[in-house]
Amino acid sequence: MKHIIAALPIACIIIDKRETLICANDLAHAILGPNIEGRHFVQAIRTPDVIAAIEATLSRGDASELEWRTSVHKLESFYTLWIRKIDSQHVMVSFEDRTQSEQTRQMRRDFVSNVSHELRTPLTSILGFLETLQTVAKDDATARVRFLDIMRGEAERMNRLVNDLLSLNQVESNIHMRPTTDVDVREILLETSENLSPNLEKNNVSIAFEGATDPVTIKGDRDQLRQVFTNLIENAIKYGGPHKTITVTLGDIAHQKPLRGVGTVVHITDHGEGIGAEHISRLTERFYRVDKHRSREVGGTGLGLSIVKHIISRHRGRLEIESVLGQGSTFSVFLPR
Ligand SMILES: Nc1ncnc2c1ncn2[C@@H]1O[C@H](COP(=O)(O)OP(=O)(O)O)[C@@H](O)[C@H]1O
Ligand SMILES: [Mg+2]
Repeated sequence: MKHIIAALPIACIIIDKRETLICANDLAHAILGPNIEGRHFVQAIRTPDVIAAIEATLSRGDASELEWRTSVHKLESFYTLWIRKIDSQHVMVSFEDRTQSEQTRQMRRDFVSNVSHELRTPLTSILGFLETLQTVAKDDATARVRFLDIMRGEAERMNRLVNDLLSLNQVESNIHMRPTTDVDVREILLETSENLSPNLEKNNVSIAFEGATDPVTIKGDRDQLRQVFTNLIENAIKYGGPHKTITVTLGDIAHQKPLRGVGTVVHITDHGEGIGAEHISRLTERFYRVDKHRSREVGGTGLGLSIVKHIISRHRGRLEIESVLGQGSTFSVFLPR
């Protein structure tokens, strides 16, 4: 029995009629600890409903499955325990690890609750103003103009949120298909900044281009790369502040190891308030914002960098963020050829 369970890909223990745990494989030791063999099985598993189920299988032969939650090396872990009679003398308990799927499920729940919350804020505001317009401000022409303006702003926010959610979904659905067409990164960058010129003018921000003057060809998805640069430059405008210059540098990376071969790098540098070190690793999480209120004010959804990260990883590239508080930030996009 010991040899058989050692060959199994999941944690297993065997308990005999005297309730002694007679053998456990390495995977079971990793969950239950060392030195559990030769002792009563309750030394290894103390959960009352698990004990009762094992006893029922030992005495009456009932098969059962139950959910079991424990902590392995201080990490919360979830298992389905399969309790089965082997013969008149032995019961086998195997541990199906569901930690990962439980985490995925939790992430999905968090995501749905985040989305609902983000949509509810503007919706509540629109409903509030509608009610005011239908009641107390019914005949107030000035209030009507002002409230309609606010409601429009809130509806636009909802629209941006839905658009970003759809982009995120679309990028995620083809994340494993690496783009195959040749695109010129330099041309995409120039095009992007051209498209952003109204935004740049409004904030009195200019872009300085540095580096490559010839086409830089890589395998890429033109629309998605345009979205990456749009999001990053928009952030640099929004968080870099007015009356500043954004530097966009297009460079060569000769032998960047993580990219296995030759690639290109785009640095987007602003001279804004910068980002605290504790936030940097979390910026690409969905809905993560350093200052929620600030992001809302400038029309952010908190999804921009998450979309950026997904697109770059579809291109087998890498995003690097460097920032000094009070001096500014540099977002670098590494893309393999
Ligand atoms: N260039 C930047 N300078 C300072 N903070 C930034 C910059 N870019 C992004 N951030 C921070 O990262 C957060 C997430 O960015 P993003 O995903 O684009 O969401 P959004 O811009 O919609 O808020 C922003 O809310 C902001 O706090
Ligand atoms: Mg953004």
